[in-house]
Amino acid sequence: MLHSSPSSSFHHTTTLHPSPSPSLLSASSPSSSRHAWLPLRHFSFQTRPLRLNNLHIHNHFALTSPKALKVNCSTSEPLKIMISGAPASGKGTQCELIVQKFGLVHISTGDLLRAEVVAGTEIGNKAKEFMNSGRLVPDEIVTAMVAARLSREDAKQRGWLLDGYPRTFSQAESLEKMQIRPDLYIVLDVPDEILIDRCVGRRLDPVTGKIYHLKFFPPESEEIKARLVMRPDDTEEKVKSRLEIYKQNAEAASSSYSNITKKIDGSRSKEEVFKEVESSLSQLQQSKGKILKSGEMEIQRTLEKSILDTKKGSGSSRQDKWRGIPTRLNNIPHSREIRQYFYDDVIKATQRAVNDGKTRLKVDINIPELNPEMDVYRIGTLMELVRGLALSFADDGKRVKVCVQGSMGEGALAGMPLQLAGSRKILEFMDWGDYGAKGTFINIGSIGAAEVEEQDDLYILVAPQNAVGNCIIDDLRAMTNAAEHRPVILINARLKVLLSVSFAITMGRDQRLKYAASFESCYFFRLLYYAGTQYPIMGAIRMSYPYRYELYKRVDDPSGKEKYVILSTFLERPTTDEINDAFEGKPRNETRKGSGIWGFLSGIF
Ligand code: AP5
Repeated sequence: MLHSSPSSSFHHTTTLHPSPSPSLLSASSPSSSRHAWLPLRHFSFQTRPLRLNNLHIHNHFALTSPKALKVNCSTSEPLKIMISGAPASGKGTQCELIVQKFGLVHISTGDLLRAEVVAGTEIGNKAKEFMNSGRLVPDEIVTAMVAARLSREDAKQRGWLLDGYPRTFSQAESLEKMQIRPDLYIVLDVPDEILIDRCVGRRLDPVTGKIYHLKFFPPESEEIKARLVMRPDDTEEKVKSRLEIYKQNAEAASSSYSNITKKIDGSRSKEEVFKEVESSLSQLQQSKGKILKSGEMEIQRTLEKSILDTKKGSGSSRQDKWRGIPTRLNNIPHSREIRQYFYDDVIKATQRAVNDGKTRLKVDINIPELNPEMDVYRIGTLMELVRGLALSFADDGKRVKVCVQGSMGEGALAGMPLQLAGSRKILEFMDWGDYGAKGTFINIGSIGAAEVEEQDDLYILVAPQNAVGNCIIDDLRAMTNAAEHRPVILINARLKVLLSVSFAITMGRDQRLKYAASFESCYFFRLLYYAGTQYPIMGAIRMSYPYRYELYKRVDDPSGKEKYVILSTFLERPTTDEINDAFEGKPRNETRKGSGIWGFLSGIF
């Protein structure tokens, strides 16, 4: 039975009483029901199109519910929505509500794959092992499935809601190549501890496909409770591994959609979360209606405004401030803007780490002008960086000592590493601002315990490094011991223990290396080239405390411009194998086979 009533100039509200007669879901075309890995005969679907006021609609919300269901059918351009978030962030739960309200075709890669597994197809057999262990199914399998589902008529007509895809950069890239782009990219943001609770307590009803939670949404009756099942990948151990895989890929997968991303706090009740989702979708639907009516390009503006409003409301997130990596880094010398960009990036990261109480820090920044291996190395850039960092702390009232190591050794081994020659003098003569910071808030010294004075609050050590036959680490250790709880920040240190002519220096090598490793990275930036070359730039790694290591690929736009796109993120600095795998688009933890063209990158570290 159908009732139709116009709800706005662009929508018709339709109330449907679902048919009690069940029909089977075709294994080759798993549809909108969530968690379709359950026995297919348990699902009740009605796929016959219904005609209403010249609108073509499907009774797509397949589940038999005692209540009447409500669908808003839009006469406007259909919506195209992506929903993303960690495992158990509530994607499926919100999708059920979105489908009820907006009538979109729900395409969940998790469900499509589970249906293949149940049907025992070749795809299902391949996917099963990955899914059960909580790993991602290879891109080529998932992408082909998604592309096929999106090209079907219902998705074109009613619009689609893509859930759980793309999950990697290469999946997002595949969609871009097929020119498939959503209107809105929703991210459900939920803290880890809640996610684990939600997964472990999740239960599914094989008869209705409804998602329950033992604590949050318990089943309505004992009868339902008795038939509930748990997903094989919902054990605590597997959830943790799924979560880690999600974190490694989330930024990369979403980077193409940053201007249409709507981040929603998914830790609230499902009704509250849906209120925000619904409001964004309604707003979008209205804009699309306007486009249809007047041909104006309203969507993008409305969306960007709504996203901007949300961001303003939710305080300053890192994404708001992060401006991406500057391009043309191989145009050297660098422009003032590029240098300033990196100084700011380093200063922010270091300030955050010091404010968090970290006391042994290191900054590694390897842009061409700061890379002593390159002909364009510029001591002035290093000094400017140090000055900017020191003044940023002095501005907060801290007394900063900037230290350069003195001459090392005697006789034939006298002198300081070449790149530091003259740097103390440069620091002495530099312009330290109008307010007389130098001599009060900023002092210049050398590296060693003797430099540590009562009034100092913080130490910045300029490129401390070992030279053949001389090891700075002992002076450094004496200095940090004397500095106790006060922060010591190493800028572009080179503390590898080099081959030594002196037996005394070889002694205690392990302890020295251990000590050198005790400094925590608060900033890391390195450009990536093919091994043995310094052109062209292939990508970059960036880490800015307290965030993860980000791996970027440099790509050329068809317009001739270049840009950096994020490929993946890592908790620890990625190894060369991990970098190569990310460039090749391989899933994580896969055993490396041949090296391929990107194998050449492996020489970078
Ligand atoms: P998939 O099924 O997509 O799993 P997932 O992304 O890990 O997400 P979940 O289904 O676990 O959680 P959800 O966010 O939908 O949360 P739900 O609403 O159920 O994918 C499974 C596997 O398939 C992957 O691991 C991978 O192997 C493979 N795969 C899928 N896509 C792939 C791709 N693109 N590429 C490669 N491989 C792919 O809610 C969870 C629980 O919390 C429920 O019990 C619910 O009742 C409860 N809950 C929900 N909202 C709330 C709330 N607001 N308050 C309290 N409780 C709530």
